[in-house]
Amino acid sequence: MSSLLEVVGLRAGYGLFSVLHGLEFHVKEREIVSLVGSNGAGKTTTMRALSGLIAPAGGLVRFDSQKTTGFSPSQMVERGLVCVPEGRQLFPEMTVRDTLMVGVSTPRARAQRQENLERVYALFPKLKERGGQLCGTLSGGEQQMVAIGRGLMSAPRMLLLDEPSLGLAPTIVKQLFQAIIGIREQGVTVLIVEQNVRSVLTFVDRAYVIENGSVELSGTAEELANNPDVVNAYFGIGSKENVH
Ligand SMILES: Nc1ncnc2c1ncn2[C@@H]1O[C@H](COP(=O)(O)OP(=O)(O)OP(=O)(O)O)[C@@H](O)[C@H]1O
Ligand SMILES: [Mg+2]
Repeated sequence: MSSLLEVVGLRAGYGLFSVLHGLEFHVKEREIVSLVGSNGAGKTTTMRALSGLIAPAGGLVRFDSQKTTGFSPSQMVERGLVCVPEGRQLFPEMTVRDTLMVGVSTPRARAQRQENLERVYALFPKLKERGGQLCGTLSGGEQQMVAIGRGLMSAPRMLLLDEPSLGLAPTIVKQLFQAIIGIREQGVTVLIVEQNVRSVLTFVDRAYVIENGSVELSGTAEELANNPDVVNAYFGIGSKENVH
């Protein structure tokens, strides 16, 4: 299986402030891979650099065998890499249905609009019932469904999810992780940032531990879940939202 996303020696930051110092990882087609690590480690910065929101200072990003380093967000969406940002970023006064339609931003997505809408409703049946409701009146879990649904309406080959479980109750987190497995079953590759390390390692294929802007550890979910360093350092984090 070839890598859909390949990241080699990625460096990025904000102005003179350097955050990523030569990050290396890859994601194969149809994998679910997680980036974990403590606050400020550079996970969101990685997502931003991959989706074109910030320009890398060095290194290489290859998506679908093509060099995409420095591509704009719309170029990345066009190629099939779509990010669901940290904090959901919905407009409270916009309805669920209109928000989903915001994701239909490329000719490719327009061509598959009805099919993608059916897929989103299959994953999140509640969104079909709540089509006319304003996003600001939805629960946190429903808002996260809308944010992911909007991403899926862009017809991604790969979905980047930045802390989708943040602030959600354990049962909702469990449902959300089930939906992410469903997204992979629909043929979409997933890269998910999570602080809830113990929970995320129950359903992803592999994970990378990022600290201070580089990969400190990597392995299969099982390897990392059995690694005493990972258990000691990270299994406390997000334990309130632990889905076990
Ligand atoms: N827009 C910005 N301008 C300047 N510095 C930033 C900006 N965004 C993030 N940083 C800094 O970059 C570093 C990495 O931040 P980043 O958001 O990537 O961390 P993270 O791993 O996603 O953390 P968290 O788990 O808290 O979300 C931090 O030191 C942060 O203060
Ligand atoms: Mg973050």
